Amino acid sequence: MEIIVLTLFPEMFTGILNESILKRAIADGQLSVRLVNFRDFANDKHKTVDDYPFGGGAGMLLKPAPLFEAIRHIQSESSGPAGRVVLMTPQGKPFTQKLAQDFAQESRLVLVCGHYEGFDERVRQELVTDEVSIGDFVLTGGEIPAMAVIDAVARLLPGVLGNEESAEDDSYTSGLLEYPQYTRPAVYEGLAVPDVLLSGNHKRIAEWRHVHALYRTWVRRPDLLRTYAMSEKDKEYISRWERGDFKDIDVFDRYHELKRVSDPID
Ligand code: ADE
Repeated sequence: MEIIVLTLFPEMFTGILNESILKRAIADGQLSVRLVNFRDFANDKHKTVDDYPFGGGAGMLLKPAPLFEAIRHIQSESSGPAGRVVLMTPQGKPFTQKLAQDFAQESRLVLVCGHYEGFDERVRQELVTDEVSIGDFVLTGGEIPAMAVIDAVARLLPGVLGNEESAEDDSYTSGLLEYPQYTRPAVYEGLAVPDVLLSGNHKRIAEWRHVHALYRTWVRRPDLLRTYAMSEKDKEYISRWERGDFKDIDVFDRYHELKRVSDPID
């Protein structure tokens, strides 16, 4: 997959692209990332990319021309489909694991990072196919959101994660948050790992993990359960928890109390 990033600050990306799994994915050819500074496409001699908003108001806006020209240039280089052009903006659609999976199916993705106060609306209208937000907070630019998208998408590309790092158990992939995990030693400073995980009984371990993933999701993110396909048994667990019966639970969640007072499941 090829990801092209339009940014005024290409150097911000060198760290993440040169470490760990992304570095390996690029070296192995599963991912290629091209950083394009769209200031190079500004059509005046000072290479201006921003200007004052018509109608007044604080701040500057990115002018349409450098972004239009940069994208036209990219599209003219390849004979294939134009591909998705994704604008990073706090006004966008929330970035989720599902959207990451969707993007991972594409052969090419163009990520547009803004700075300053915003974009000329014609960029939205004519140039981009998607607008994406990484959360309800405002960053100084789209570079960090673009890095989050690159990272989340790259690890879903075939061959990028080894079996040991598999994405299947990730929180969100299954629709539930991940269950609690432990490694050696079995007792650390008096804190013991739940017995079942040491039992070697794979069926019981799988059930324990499922119940604790369900419980953790119920406590922390009950909103996710609205779209999760619950089994009859899952429903039984939840109604027990609703009644205050937690005998199935070995590892109480730090947000257990908070949930019960603030967001009872209906
Ligand atoms: N640009 C600034 N803040 C952003 C956010 N939360 N998501 C995506 N792009 C942004």
